Amino acid sequence: MGRMLATIFSEVGKEPTVEEVDPIEPGRNDVVVRIAASGVCASDHHVLLGSLPFPTPLILGHEAAGTVEAIGSGVTRVSPGDRVVASPDPCCAVCWYCAQGQPTLCEALPRISTTPRVRRTDGSIAFGMVGLGTFAEFMTVDEASVVPVETDLPFEQLALIGCGVTTGVGAVLVRARVQAGSSVVVVGCGGVGLSVIQGARIAGAETVVAIDPVEARRKAALGMGATDELDPGKGDAGERIRSLTDGRGADYVFEAVGRPETCVQSIGLARPGGTVVLVGAPAPGDRLEISLWEFFGDAKSVMTTRFGSVDIRRDIPRFVKLAESGLLDLASLVTRTAPLETGEVNAAFMALERGEAVRTVLVPRSPNASDRERGS
Ligand SMILES: NC(=O)c1ccc[n+]([C@@H]2O[C@H](COP(=O)([O-])OP(=O)(O)OC[C@H]3O[C@@H](n4cnc5c(N)ncnc54)[C@H](O)[C@@H]3O)[C@@H](O)[C@H]2O)c1
Ligand SMILES: [Zn+2]
Ligand SMILES: [Zn+2]
Repeated sequence: MGRMLATIFSEVGKEPTVEEVDPIEPGRNDVVVRIAASGVCASDHHVLLGSLPFPTPLILGHEAAGTVEAIGSGVTRVSPGDRVVASPDPCCAVCWYCAQGQPTLCEALPRISTTPRVRRTDGSIAFGMVGLGTFAEFMTVDEASVVPVETDLPFEQLALIGCGVTTGVGAVLVRARVQAGSSVVVVGCGGVGLSVIQGARIAGAETVVAIDPVEARRKAALGMGATDELDPGKGDAGERIRSLTDGRGADYVFEAVGRPETCVQSIGLARPGGTVVLVGAPAPGDRLEISLWEFFGDAKSVMTTRFGSVDIRRDIPRFVKLAESGLLDLASLVTRTAPLETGEVNAAFMALERGEAVRTVLVPRSPNASDRERGS
Protein backbone atom coordinates (compact mmCIF):
# COMPACT_ATOMS: atom_id res chain seq x y z
CA MET A 1 0.00 0.00 0.00
CA GLY A 2 1.38 3.38 -0.95
CA ARG A 3 0.96 6.85 0.43
CA MET A 4 -2.48 7.81 1.69
CA LEU A 5 -4.32 10.60 3.45
CA ALA A 6 -4.95 10.45 7.21
CA THR A 7 -6.14 12.99 9.78
CA ILE A 8 -3.50 13.50 12.43
CA PHE A 9 -4.05 14.98 15.88
CA SER A 10 -0.79 15.96 17.56
CA GLU A 11 -1.63 18.09 20.61
CA VAL A 12 -4.44 19.84 22.45
CA GLY A 13 -5.04 23.30 21.03
CA LYS A 14 -3.66 22.40 17.60
CA GLU A 15 -6.07 21.81 14.73
CA PRO A 16 -5.98 18.26 13.35
CA THR A 17 -4.76 18.14 9.75
CA VAL A 18 -5.30 15.78 6.86
CA GLU A 19 -1.83 14.84 5.61
CA GLU A 20 -0.03 12.31 3.43
CA VAL A 21 1.42 9.39 5.39
CA ASP A 22 3.05 6.05 4.63
CA PRO A 23 1.33 3.01 6.15
CA ILE A 24 3.57 0.73 8.20
CA GLU A 25 3.74 -2.85 6.91
CA PRO A 26 0.80 -4.89 8.32
CA GLY A 27 1.52 -7.69 10.79
CA ARG A 28 0.43 -11.34 10.67
CA ASN A 29 -2.94 -10.71 12.33
CA ASP A 30 -3.60 -7.38 10.64
CA VAL A 31 -6.20 -6.39 8.10
CA VAL A 32 -5.93 -3.47 5.67
CA VAL A 33 -9.30 -1.77 5.19
CA ARG A 34 -10.18 0.71 2.48
CA ILE A 35 -12.36 3.15 4.40
CA ALA A 36 -15.58 4.02 2.59
CA ALA A 37 -17.20 6.23 5.24
CA SER A 38 -16.45 7.42 8.74
CA GLY A 39 -18.77 9.17 11.20
CA VAL A 40 -17.55 12.01 13.41
CA CYS A 41 -18.47 11.10 17.01
CA ALA A 42 -18.30 13.30 20.11
CA SER A 43 -15.53 11.05 21.45
CA ASP A 44 -13.24 12.28 18.62
CA HIS A 45 -14.04 15.79 19.80
CA HIS A 46 -13.15 14.80 23.39
CA VAL A 47 -9.69 13.82 22.09
CA LEU A 48 -9.16 17.31 20.66
CA LEU A 49 -10.21 18.89 23.96
CA GLY A 50 -7.81 16.67 25.90
CA SER A 51 -10.58 14.98 27.88
CA LEU A 52 -10.02 11.59 26.22
CA PRO A 53 -6.26 11.03 26.30
CA PHE A 54 -4.50 8.73 23.80
CA PRO A 55 -0.86 8.38 22.74
CA THR A 56 0.01 10.94 20.02
CA PRO A 57 0.45 11.62 17.17
CA LEU A 58 -2.91 9.99 16.63
CA ILE A 59 -4.97 9.19 13.53
CA LEU A 60 -8.45 10.33 14.57
CA GLY A 61 -11.69 8.45 13.96
CA HIS A 62 -13.24 5.28 15.34
CA GLU A 63 -16.65 4.90 13.62
CA ALA A 64 -16.36 3.46 10.12
CA ALA A 65 -17.16 0.90 7.48
CA GLY A 66 -15.21 -0.19 4.44
CA THR A 67 -13.85 -3.06 2.40
CA VAL A 68 -11.01 -5.45 3.24
CA GLU A 69 -8.13 -4.72 0.92
CA ALA A 70 -5.50 -7.20 2.20
CA ILE A 71 -4.96 -9.60 5.11
CA GLY A 72 -1.97 -10.92 7.04
CA SER A 73 -1.06 -14.62 6.88
CA GLY A 74 -2.65 -15.34 10.28
CA VAL A 75 -6.03 -13.71 9.63
CA THR A 76 -8.99 -16.10 9.61
CA ARG A 77 -12.09 -13.99 10.25
CA VAL A 78 -12.19 -11.87 7.07
CA SER A 79 -11.12 -12.11 3.43
CA PRO A 80 -10.20 -9.47 0.85
CA GLY A 81 -13.35 -7.94 -0.62
CA ASP A 82 -15.43 -8.41 2.56
CA ARG A 83 -17.45 -5.44 3.76
CA VAL A 84 -16.58 -4.72 7.37
CA VAL A 85 -17.70 -2.52 10.23
CA ALA A 86 -14.80 -1.37 12.41
CA SER A 87 -15.19 -1.66 16.17
CA PRO A 88 -13.73 0.76 18.74
CA ASP A 89 -13.55 -2.10 21.23
CA PRO A 90 -11.82 -5.16 19.80
CA CYS A 91 -12.92 -8.72 20.48
CA CYS A 92 -9.92 -11.05 20.48
CA ALA A 93 -12.25 -13.90 21.51
CA VAL A 94 -9.62 -15.58 23.73
CA CYS A 95 -8.74 -13.21 26.60
CA TRP A 96 -10.35 -13.51 30.05
CA TYR A 97 -13.00 -10.82 29.39
CA CYS A 98 -13.92 -12.15 25.95
CA ALA A 99 -14.28 -15.61 27.50
CA GLN A 100 -16.56 -14.13 30.21
CA GLY A 101 -18.90 -12.73 27.58
CA GLN A 102 -17.76 -9.15 28.31
CA PRO A 103 -15.81 -8.49 25.11
CA THR A 104 -16.07 -4.69 25.27
CA LEU A 105 -13.47 -5.03 28.04
CA CYS A 106 -11.17 -7.09 25.76
CA GLU A 107 -7.55 -7.09 26.95
CA ALA A 108 -6.22 -6.54 23.42
CA LEU A 109 -7.13 -2.82 23.45
CA PRO A 110 -3.96 -1.41 25.09
CA ARG A 111 -1.74 -3.36 22.70
CA ILE A 112 -3.57 -2.38 19.53
CA SER A 113 -3.91 1.26 20.64
CA THR A 114 -0.13 1.54 20.93
CA THR A 115 0.81 -0.21 17.70
CA PRO A 116 2.40 2.29 15.27
CA ARG A 117 0.35 2.38 12.07
CA VAL A 118 1.77 5.07 9.80
CA ARG A 119 4.96 7.05 9.24
CA ARG A 120 4.62 10.79 8.69
CA THR A 121 6.71 12.77 6.21
CA ASP A 122 8.80 14.15 9.11
CA GLY A 123 9.74 10.57 10.02
CA SER A 124 7.61 10.34 13.20
CA ILE A 125 5.14 7.48 13.65
CA ALA A 126 1.44 7.73 14.49
CA PHE A 127 -1.08 5.43 16.20
CA GLY A 128 -4.69 4.76 15.28
CA MET A 129 -7.35 5.89 17.80
CA VAL A 130 -8.41 2.73 19.72
CA GLY A 131 -6.40 0.74 17.19
CA LEU A 132 -8.42 2.18 14.27
CA GLY A 133 -7.88 5.71 12.89
CA THR A 134 -10.77 5.97 10.47
CA PHE A 135 -10.45 9.57 9.22
CA ALA A 136 -8.19 8.21 6.51
CA GLU A 137 -8.27 6.51 3.12
CA PHE A 138 -7.07 3.18 4.51
CA MET A 139 -6.38 1.77 7.94
CA THR A 140 -4.34 -1.18 9.16
CA VAL A 141 -6.03 -2.85 12.13
CA ASP A 142 -5.94 -6.07 14.10
CA GLU A 143 -8.52 -8.59 12.88
CA ALA A 144 -10.10 -8.35 16.36
CA SER A 145 -11.23 -4.83 15.42
CA VAL A 146 -13.39 -5.66 12.40
CA VAL A 147 -16.64 -7.53 11.88
CA PRO A 148 -17.66 -8.74 8.41
CA VAL A 149 -21.21 -7.84 7.37
CA GLU A 150 -23.23 -9.08 4.41
CA THR A 151 -25.44 -6.19 3.40
CA ASP A 152 -26.14 -3.67 0.67
CA LEU A 153 -26.76 -0.83 3.11
CA PRO A 154 -24.94 2.35 2.03
CA PHE A 155 -21.51 2.68 3.66
CA GLU A 156 -22.41 6.10 5.12
CA GLN A 157 -25.13 4.40 7.15
CA LEU A 158 -23.13 1.29 7.96
CA ALA A 159 -20.35 3.48 9.38
CA LEU A 160 -22.60 4.65 12.23
CA ILE A 161 -22.99 1.07 13.45
CA GLY A 162 -19.26 1.36 14.13
CA CYS A 163 -19.89 3.49 17.24
CA GLY A 164 -22.90 5.73 17.91
CA VAL A 165 -25.67 3.37 16.87
CA THR A 166 -24.22 0.26 18.48
CA THR A 167 -23.47 2.19 21.67
CA GLY A 168 -27.01 3.56 21.91
CA VAL A 169 -28.97 0.50 20.80
CA GLY A 170 -26.66 -1.82 22.76
CA ALA A 171 -27.09 0.28 25.91
CA VAL A 172 -30.84 -0.41 25.68
CA LEU A 173 -31.01 -3.99 24.40
CA VAL A 174 -27.84 -5.49 25.87
CA ARG A 175 -26.81 -3.41 28.90
CA ALA A 176 -30.15 -2.37 30.43
CA ARG A 177 -32.39 -4.95 28.70
CA VAL A 178 -35.31 -2.52 28.61
CA GLN A 179 -38.66 -4.26 29.01
CA ALA A 180 -41.66 -3.69 26.74
CA GLY A 181 -44.19 -1.25 28.19
CA SER A 182 -41.65 0.60 30.31
CA SER A 183 -40.83 4.30 30.58
CA VAL A 184 -37.49 5.59 29.29
CA VAL A 185 -35.85 9.01 29.58
CA VAL A 186 -32.91 9.97 27.36
CA VAL A 187 -30.76 12.93 28.41
CA GLY A 188 -28.84 14.21 25.36
CA CYS A 189 -30.03 13.52 21.81
CA GLY A 190 -26.91 13.44 19.61
CA GLY A 191 -26.02 10.43 17.48
CA VAL A 192 -25.75 8.28 20.61
CA GLY A 193 -28.89 9.53 22.40
CA LEU A 194 -31.00 9.26 19.23
CA SER A 195 -29.80 5.66 18.90
CA VAL A 196 -30.88 5.03 22.51
CA ILE A 197 -34.30 6.40 21.58
CA GLN A 198 -34.51 4.06 18.61
CA GLY A 199 -33.42 1.14 20.80
CA ALA A 200 -36.16 2.02 23.31
CA ARG A 201 -38.75 2.06 20.53
CA ILE A 202 -37.49 -1.32 19.24
CA ALA A 203 -37.68 -2.72 22.80
CA GLY A 204 -41.32 -1.67 22.99
CA ALA A 205 -41.01 1.08 25.59
CA GLU A 206 -44.32 2.86 26.07
CA THR A 207 -43.07 6.29 27.11
CA VAL A 208 -39.80 7.65 25.67
CA VAL A 209 -38.89 11.17 26.76
CA ALA A 210 -36.14 13.07 24.90
CA ILE A 211 -34.29 15.82 26.80
CA ASP A 212 -31.98 18.19 24.90
CA PRO A 213 -31.50 21.98 24.88
CA VAL A 214 -31.30 22.01 21.06
CA GLU A 215 -34.75 22.15 19.49
CA ALA A 216 -33.66 20.45 16.25
CA ARG A 217 -32.36 17.49 18.27
CA ARG A 218 -35.66 17.17 20.15
CA LYS A 219 -37.50 17.24 16.82
CA ALA A 220 -35.23 14.53 15.45
CA ALA A 221 -35.95 12.51 18.60
CA LEU A 222 -39.71 12.69 18.01
CA GLY A 223 -39.11 11.38 14.49
CA MET A 224 -37.14 8.40 15.79
CA GLY A 225 -39.48 7.13 18.48
CA ALA A 226 -39.63 9.62 21.35
CA THR A 227 -43.18 10.12 22.60
CA ASP A 228 -42.42 13.35 24.52
CA GLU A 229 -39.65 15.93 24.52
CA LEU A 230 -38.47 18.56 26.94
CA ASP A 231 -36.02 21.45 27.02
CA PRO A 232 -33.83 21.15 30.16
CA GLY A 233 -33.64 24.95 30.34
CA LYS A 234 -37.39 25.30 30.77
CA GLY A 235 -39.28 24.21 33.87
CA ASP A 236 -38.54 21.37 36.25
CA ALA A 237 -37.57 18.22 34.34
CA GLY A 238 -38.16 16.03 37.42
CA GLU A 239 -41.72 17.27 37.84
CA ARG A 240 -42.46 16.77 34.16
CA ILE A 241 -41.04 13.21 34.14
CA ARG A 242 -43.02 12.30 37.27
CA SER A 243 -46.18 13.65 35.65
CA LEU A 244 -45.57 11.28 32.72
CA THR A 245 -44.88 8.25 34.96
CA ASP A 246 -47.72 8.19 37.51
CA GLY A 247 -45.62 10.23 39.91
CA ARG A 248 -42.84 7.63 40.24
CA GLY A 249 -40.03 8.63 37.86
CA ALA A 250 -38.75 6.66 34.87
CA ASP A 251 -38.07 2.92 34.80
CA TYR A 252 -34.87 3.61 32.80
CA VAL A 253 -32.80 6.76 32.31
CA PHE A 254 -29.93 6.99 29.80
CA GLU A 255 -27.40 9.79 30.06
CA ALA A 256 -25.80 10.52 26.64
CA VAL A 257 -24.08 13.85 27.24
CA GLY A 258 -21.05 12.96 29.40
CA ARG A 259 -21.14 15.64 32.11
CA PRO A 260 -21.29 15.10 35.88
CA GLU A 261 -24.30 17.40 36.26
CA THR A 262 -26.37 15.52 33.67
CA CYS A 263 -25.35 12.23 35.31
CA VAL A 264 -26.62 13.48 38.67
CA GLN A 265 -29.80 14.72 36.99
CA SER A 266 -30.29 11.35 35.28
CA ILE A 267 -30.03 9.45 38.56
CA GLY A 268 -32.65 11.81 40.01
CA LEU A 269 -35.08 11.17 37.13
CA ALA A 270 -35.21 7.40 37.71
CA ARG A 271 -37.92 5.91 39.91
CA PRO A 272 -37.00 4.01 43.10
CA GLY A 273 -35.68 0.64 41.92
CA GLY A 274 -35.11 2.05 38.42
CA THR A 275 -32.06 1.67 36.19
CA VAL A 276 -29.70 4.44 35.10
CA VAL A 277 -27.17 3.90 32.31
CA LEU A 278 -24.41 6.49 32.03
CA VAL A 279 -23.48 6.31 28.35
CA GLY A 280 -21.79 9.71 27.91
CA ALA A 281 -18.01 9.71 28.30
CA PRO A 282 -16.61 11.74 31.23
CA ALA A 283 -13.23 13.51 31.44
CA PRO A 284 -10.45 12.02 33.62
CA GLY A 285 -10.96 14.48 36.51
CA ASP A 286 -14.76 14.23 36.66
CA ARG A 287 -16.40 13.12 39.94
CA LEU A 288 -19.96 12.05 40.60
CA GLU A 289 -21.48 13.48 43.77
CA ILE A 290 -24.79 12.07 44.90
CA SER A 291 -26.54 11.58 48.23
CA LEU A 292 -25.57 8.10 49.39
CA TRP A 293 -28.57 8.23 51.73
CA GLU A 294 -31.07 8.75 48.90
CA PHE A 295 -29.23 6.33 46.64
CA PHE A 296 -29.38 3.65 49.33
CA GLY A 297 -33.00 4.26 50.15
CA ASP A 298 -34.17 4.29 46.54
CA ALA A 299 -32.24 1.12 45.60
CA LYS A 300 -31.53 2.31 42.06
CA SER A 301 -29.14 0.52 39.72
CA VAL A 302 -26.57 2.85 38.16
CA MET A 303 -24.27 1.46 35.50
CA THR A 304 -21.95 2.64 32.76
CA THR A 305 -21.40 0.99 29.42
CA ARG A 306 -18.61 0.75 26.94
CA PHE A 307 -19.84 0.48 23.37
CA GLY A 308 -23.28 -0.65 24.53
CA SER A 309 -21.72 -3.69 26.25
CA VAL A 310 -22.29 -5.59 23.01
CA ASP A 311 -20.65 -8.71 21.70
CA ILE A 312 -19.56 -7.25 18.38
CA ARG A 313 -19.61 -10.55 16.51
CA ARG A 314 -23.18 -11.25 17.60
CA ASP A 315 -24.64 -7.75 17.76
CA ILE A 316 -23.16 -5.83 14.82
CA PRO A 317 -24.72 -8.26 12.28
CA ARG A 318 -27.93 -8.15 14.37
CA PHE A 319 -28.09 -4.35 14.22
CA VAL A 320 -27.38 -4.45 10.47
CA LYS A 321 -30.46 -6.71 10.14
CA LEU A 322 -32.54 -4.29 12.21
CA ALA A 323 -31.53 -1.54 9.79
CA GLU A 324 -32.33 -3.69 6.75
CA SER A 325 -35.77 -4.45 8.13
CA GLY A 326 -36.42 -0.73 8.61
CA LEU A 327 -36.75 -0.98 12.41
CA LEU A 328 -33.52 0.95 12.84
CA ASP A 329 -33.44 4.24 10.92
CA LEU A 330 -29.82 4.97 10.04
CA ALA A 331 -30.52 7.37 7.17
CA SER A 332 -31.97 10.06 9.45
CA LEU A 333 -28.84 10.00 11.62
CA VAL A 334 -26.57 10.90 8.68
CA THR A 335 -27.27 14.58 8.39
CA ARG A 336 -24.20 15.55 6.35
CA THR A 337 -21.47 13.93 4.27
CA ALA A 338 -18.16 15.64 3.55
CA PRO A 339 -14.87 14.81 1.81
CA LEU A 340 -11.74 14.00 3.84
CA GLU A 341 -10.14 17.45 4.01
CA THR A 342 -8.70 19.43 6.91
CA GLY A 343 -11.37 22.15 6.63
CA GLU A 344 -14.17 19.62 6.51
CA VAL A 345 -12.94 17.64 9.52
CA ASN A 346 -12.77 20.81 11.57
CA ALA A 347 -16.15 21.99 10.28
CA ALA A 348 -17.61 18.66 11.44
CA PHE A 349 -16.26 19.28 14.96
CA MET A 350 -17.72 22.80 14.95
CA ALA A 351 -21.10 21.40 13.90
CA LEU A 352 -20.92 18.83 16.70
CA GLU A 353 -20.08 21.55 19.23
CA ARG A 354 -23.05 23.65 18.11
CA GLY A 355 -25.44 20.70 17.95
CA GLU A 356 -26.05 21.36 14.24
CA ALA A 357 -25.50 18.10 12.40
CA VAL A 358 -26.35 14.85 14.16
CA ARG A 359 -23.57 13.01 12.34
CA THR A 360 -21.20 14.27 9.69
CA VAL A 361 -19.88 11.32 7.72
CA LEU A 362 -16.48 11.76 6.06
CA VAL A 363 -16.21 10.05 2.70
CA PRO A 364 -12.59 9.79 1.56
CA ARG A 365 -12.22 10.32 -2.17
CA SER A 366 -9.46 8.06 -3.41
CA PRO A 367 -9.19 8.62 -7.17
CA ASN A 368 -5.78 6.91 -7.15
CA ALA A 369 -6.76 4.13 -4.81
CA SER A 370 -6.56 1.39 -7.40
CA ASP A 371 -3.09 2.59 -8.51
CA ARG A 372 -1.98 2.56 -4.90
CA GLU A 373 -3.33 -0.91 -4.56
CA ARG A 374 -1.40 -2.15 -7.59
CA GLY A 375 1.74 -0.44 -6.37
CA SER A 376 1.57 -2.14 -2.97
N1 LIG B 1 -20.06 4.72 26.27
C1 LIG B 1 -19.48 4.67 25.09
O1 LIG B 1 -18.88 3.67 24.71
C2 LIG B 1 -19.60 5.84 24.18
C3 LIG B 1 -19.55 5.64 22.79
C4 LIG B 1 -19.73 6.75 21.95
C5 LIG B 1 -19.91 8.00 22.48
N2 LIG B 1 -19.92 8.15 23.84
C6 LIG B 1 -20.16 9.46 24.46
O2 LIG B 1 -21.54 9.72 24.40
C7 LIG B 1 -21.76 11.13 24.45
C8 LIG B 1 -22.69 11.54 23.34
O3 LIG B 1 -22.07 11.36 22.07
P1 LIG B 1 -22.73 12.00 20.76
O4 LIG B 1 -21.82 11.65 19.64
O5 LIG B 1 -24.15 11.67 20.69
O6 LIG B 1 -22.55 13.56 21.11
P2 LIG B 1 -23.32 14.85 20.59
O7 LIG B 1 -22.47 16.01 20.92
O8 LIG B 1 -23.76 14.65 19.18
O9 LIG B 1 -24.63 14.86 21.50
C9 LIG B 1 -24.69 15.35 22.80
C10 LIG B 1 -26.07 16.01 22.99
O10 LIG B 1 -26.21 16.40 24.36
C11 LIG B 1 -26.96 17.60 24.35
N3 LIG B 1 -26.85 18.30 25.63
C12 LIG B 1 -25.94 19.21 26.03
N4 LIG B 1 -26.23 19.63 27.28
C13 LIG B 1 -27.34 18.98 27.69
C14 LIG B 1 -28.14 18.99 28.88
N5 LIG B 1 -27.80 19.76 29.91
N6 LIG B 1 -29.22 18.19 28.92
C15 LIG B 1 -29.56 17.41 27.88
N7 LIG B 1 -28.83 17.35 26.74
C16 LIG B 1 -27.74 18.12 26.65
C17 LIG B 1 -26.41 18.36 23.16
O11 LIG B 1 -27.29 19.38 22.73
C18 LIG B 1 -26.27 17.23 22.13
O12 LIG B 1 -27.44 17.10 21.34
C19 LIG B 1 -20.37 11.74 24.38
O13 LIG B 1 -19.92 11.99 25.71
C20 LIG B 1 -19.54 10.64 23.77
O14 LIG B 1 -18.17 10.77 24.06
C21 LIG B 1 -19.78 7.11 24.68
ZN1 LIG C 1 -17.75 7.13 19.27
ZN1 LIG D 1 -10.34 -10.26 24.21
